[in-house]
Amino acid sequence: MNILKIIEEYGFKSASNYYLRCKFILFNNYMKNIIEVLNWRYATKKFDAEKKISAKELGEILEVLRLSPSSYGLQPWKFIIVNNLDIREKIRIAAYGQSQITEASQIIVFTNKKNIDAQLVDDYMKFISKEKNVDINNLQGFKDMMNGIISSKTSEELKIWATYQLYLSAGNLLTSCAVMGIDSCPMEGFDKSKVDEILGLNELGLESKIIIALGYRSDEDKSAVSKKIRFPKEDVVLEIN
Ligand SMILES: Cc1cc2nc3c(=O)[nH]c(=O)nc-3n(C[C@H](O)[C@H](O)[C@H](O)COP(=O)(O)O)c2cc1C
Repeated sequence: MNILKIIEEYGFKSASNYYLRCKFILFNNYMKNIIEVLNWRYATKKFDAEKKISAKELGEILEVLRLSPSSYGLQPWKFIIVNNLDIREKIRIAAYGQSQITEASQIIVFTNKKNIDAQLVDDYMKFISKEKNVDINNLQGFKDMMNGIISSKTSEELKIWATYQLYLSAGNLLTSCAVMGIDSCPMEGFDKSKVDEILGLNELGLESKIIIALGYRSDEDKSAVSKKIRFPKEDVVLEIN
């Protein structure tokens, strides 16, 4: 029934109940879909090397990464798309021969900035000032707070902190790809110092942490039909009332 017709016949209260009910049904369907999508995704072991992600989809994927949240919005990262097949072959060897590196349509190397310091904060403040068109002096409090936090951490703690941010973006990407019907495999199984060397990351002030292979599953990938192993809700959720 049309919502205007309900208002006419039964008044506004019924109409708003009707509206809420529609919203509830839509939300329920959405939740069902997101759970279906998350059951559909899995860490793809064998990609179909012939099936490629389109340029439009790749653009969306990069936008998903760019929009990822980070602590204080500092975005201490760079996402590296490796198209060159010779380089990918070298990375495959550094990844203990995992075939996803060369068979997937795309691989993205997730890297962190190595120097989380006052200079990075300074550059960030200049960027905010330009983007929001605010006087940089108005950001002094924010800047002091960030510098305070950074100087209170050891370089090892800063490295871990930056890694947390990067992994959030990786999680974001895995779910977004699943929603887009794109398969993925998150990969930590690679020699990071070798990959840093292959990509010349040291010179760029970056270090690799995780690789995500993206593309489409091969019909031969047995992992696609193997049971998803997850602990039951009672084991992973604790409700405190
Ligand atoms: C941080 C991280 C690193 C991983 N590294 C690898 C890897 O190097 N190679 C691989 O085949 N799978 C890797 N996986 C995939 C996991 O083994 C997989 O996500 C897990 O077994 C759960 O299965 P599912 O993702 O298929 O549901 C990694 C997953 C995560 C989250």
